[in-house]
Amino acid sequence: MDQKIIVRGGRRLKGRVRVNGAKNAALAILCGATLAGENVVLDNVPNITDVQHIIQVLSFLGARVVWWREDAVTISVPSLTVREAPYDLVKKLRASNLLLGPLLARCGEVRIPLPGGCNIGARPMDLHFKGLSALGAELSLEKGYICAKAKRLRGAQVYLDFPSVGATENIMMAACLAEGQTLIQNAAKEPEVVDLANFLNSLGARIFGAGTDVIRIEGVKELGRPVHYSVIPDRIEAGTLMVAAVATRGEVEIEGVIPRHIQPLTAKLREMGAQIVEGEDVFYIKAPDELRPVNVKTMPYPGFPTDMQSQVMALLSTVPGTSLIVENIYENRFQVAQELRRMGAQIKVEGRVAVVEGVPRLYGAQVRATDLRAGAALVIAGLMAEGETEVVGAEVIYRGYKDFEKRLARLGADLAAANGQEQFFALGEKSDPGRRNIPTYRE
Ligand code: UD1
Repeated sequence: MDQKIIVRGGRRLKGRVRVNGAKNAALAILCGATLAGENVVLDNVPNITDVQHIIQVLSFLGARVVWWREDAVTISVPSLTVREAPYDLVKKLRASNLLLGPLLARCGEVRIPLPGGCNIGARPMDLHFKGLSALGAELSLEKGYICAKAKRLRGAQVYLDFPSVGATENIMMAACLAEGQTLIQNAAKEPEVVDLANFLNSLGARIFGAGTDVIRIEGVKELGRPVHYSVIPDRIEAGTLMVAAVATRGEVEIEGVIPRHIQPLTAKLREMGAQIVEGEDVFYIKAPDELRPVNVKTMPYPGFPTDMQSQVMALLSTVPGTSLIVENIYENRFQVAQELRRMGAQIKVEGRVAVVEGVPRLYGAQVRATDLRAGAALVIAGLMAEGETEVVGAEVIYRGYKDFEKRLARLGADLAAANGQEQFFALGEKSDPGRRNIPTYRE
């Protein structure tokens, strides 16, 4: 059923919040854990629906995964009897493609349905295929399944035409158990790639250079040292909370972060006029009422992250002047502009460029979350808007954000999750259904 988040705008966020473990690092590490046998303990794992789904896939394949604390799991994969991932689960998340590399290396054979995930572009897999074939795998597409086979994998030199995060991770995982040395050139440098490499190294892998554009992997016979590993903090969750703080002209302390990972966003928010003080693992952020427009171009890390683009678009929609956003990673990532326009934003999209003309205010409306980050962006827009915003399709938000609306509410926002009209009235004493008649289209 469609889930909703209902937001009543106009409150400044104030207070302190702690960031959860990184979704994209946790997903890759959980897939990487299939390379090991037993005794893997992971901390700082976010209990979000994408993680729950990948755990379901792993369990189906024969792994034993136990949540022993709210944010910690143990994994043991003594053997993998099933080598075909189930379509119903895999279609829910793109990250299941990250099982291709490790299962191929561990079992020599794997069948994975072409994965699903957020609706944000074509998302081909040619680079994954190119890299795994270079290591000696035979890959084919059969009736919607990716079939991969390899009697043995041999180290190779792989040049990626684009520094794809997923392709880098898949090739890196497969290469851990390949014979000899693999070089990945033009590798992705995202912190989540580095976190996966650190995790694999703690299992006994020999990966060098993760975080630079050349990663060298010396193959080993097996991985299996007992490991207790802690996932890095989620830079995108931290960034989303920072943008929400600035959007409401609030004053928020965000704890448990690695400030260096969020630098491209911090720089932009400062350019807009926000005051940001960085500690070792904390941000203090305060925004003045008047902000300046900026131009943003999404790029592979350490450039501005595509996963922060929608939230920043929502923020810029009320900043006086003209801001330009160039989306270089995913061609479909401007779908949120259409929803923001329903709230009164003035955004023109031309191919990969969006021109945002700041308006004095947004108005509450019913809008649809088209993907995970768009959903977060619409909630942020709702926090700024006059009146009430109903974000429908909000279940996509929980793919990547744990207790999203509850955490914002703790910072003083007026919002709640609702599955139907009846819960809408339970929002608090200020509930006034009459206020829903606010004009919604301002085009
Ligand atoms: C990962 C993240 C996602 C983030 C993205 C870019 C996970 C689970 N997801 O996705 O949140 O938005 O990085 O930072 O970690 N491409 C190809 N061929 C390929 C693979 C990718 O052309 O074989 C293209 C894609 O279409 C896209 C670009 O490369 O235009 C980036 O994709 P990639 O870095 O692979 O993203 P994901 O790993 O899918």
